[in-house]
Amino acid sequence: MEMKRVCVVGMGTMGSQIGIVCARAGFQTFMVDILEEQVGKGLQSIESFLKTQEKKGKVDREAIDRISSFIKTGIDMGEALSDADLVIEAVYEDIKVKKEVFKKMDEVSPSRTIFASNTSTLWIAELGAVTDRPEKCIGTHFLIPAALTPLVEVVRSIETSDETHETVLEFLRKCGKETVTVADSPGFVINRLYLPMVNEAFFALETGLASAEEIDRSCTRGLAFPLGPLAAADAFGLDILLASMETFHRELGEKYRPAPLLVKLVKAGRLGRKTGRGVYNYSKPH
Ligand SMILES: NC(=O)c1ccc[n+]([C@@H]2O[C@H](COP(=O)([O-])OP(=O)(O)OC[C@H]3O[C@@H](n4cnc5c(N)ncnc54)[C@H](O)[C@@H]3O)[C@@H](O)[C@H]2O)c1
Repeated sequence: MEMKRVCVVGMGTMGSQIGIVCARAGFQTFMVDILEEQVGKGLQSIESFLKTQEKKGKVDREAIDRISSFIKTGIDMGEALSDADLVIEAVYEDIKVKKEVFKKMDEVSPSRTIFASNTSTLWIAELGAVTDRPEKCIGTHFLIPAALTPLVEVVRSIETSDETHETVLEFLRKCGKETVTVADSPGFVINRLYLPMVNEAFFALETGLASAEEIDRSCTRGLAFPLGPLAAADAFGLDILLASMETFHRELGEKYRPAPLLVKLVKAGRLGRKTGRGVYNYSKPH
């Protein structure tokens, strides 16, 4: 199937970046959110990302104008999906919300449309099961920041067809992404390895093994991580990390229990960069 029109559902941290990836590759990209306010925020983050890339000499004005010309936004899912070849869902990491969104996507999309979820930890089979097209459901797990990371994990459920898989691999190749195809299971490969380590950094902090800066510096300077685990958690959102660890804990057992400090910070509304405070305080330099 020739892919021309892509729709991204959810214009948060990930959806906005995924929109850039699609538009940069020349796909007509319709981005929708449930909230008008989030559409505005998403557009602002796209603009500011592209401006930073321009300052760094990675893109020129002409390229930015071209990317912007491929992007359309709105809050009407029916309109956005009415002629989509591919929908990439990037709403909250909550199985109830995602199932509702997949049901709605199924109602308003043409029968040819492929549904991809950017879920970090949930089963693709469970999302596909609420639709009449489980063979057209797949996972495309973009990593933060999606516009820059070279790799996307592609997740096949037991129902995903070869045709869907091949079409999505081709789409991601056109987007300039490298892929790894992995089996459907909580956290796939990358998060199954990475998130328990980030969760462990919260245990280390709470039990006083070292300060947040020292834990992060051990990983950046000692292990060559681009970002320390606590700073990374602030970047992708402590609520997202907690929801992921809760899924692991529920599905894979006791060793994946969320760190109490992580739970406390989320309950206090300290969700990371997006709320101005998480492990670190972003209202003042640290
Ligand atoms: N943040 C990360 O580092 C990261 C990395 C990889 C994958 N993911 C996954 O990507 C997905 C999105 O995460 P995020 O960090 O962008 O979340 P986010 O909270 O930043 O954004 C979610 C967006 O979805 C919108 N939304 C909620 N319900 C909706 C609906 N019914 N219709 C349309 N829009 C709706 C919200 O208004 C919000 O703008 C999650 O599944 C997450 O696990 C996140």
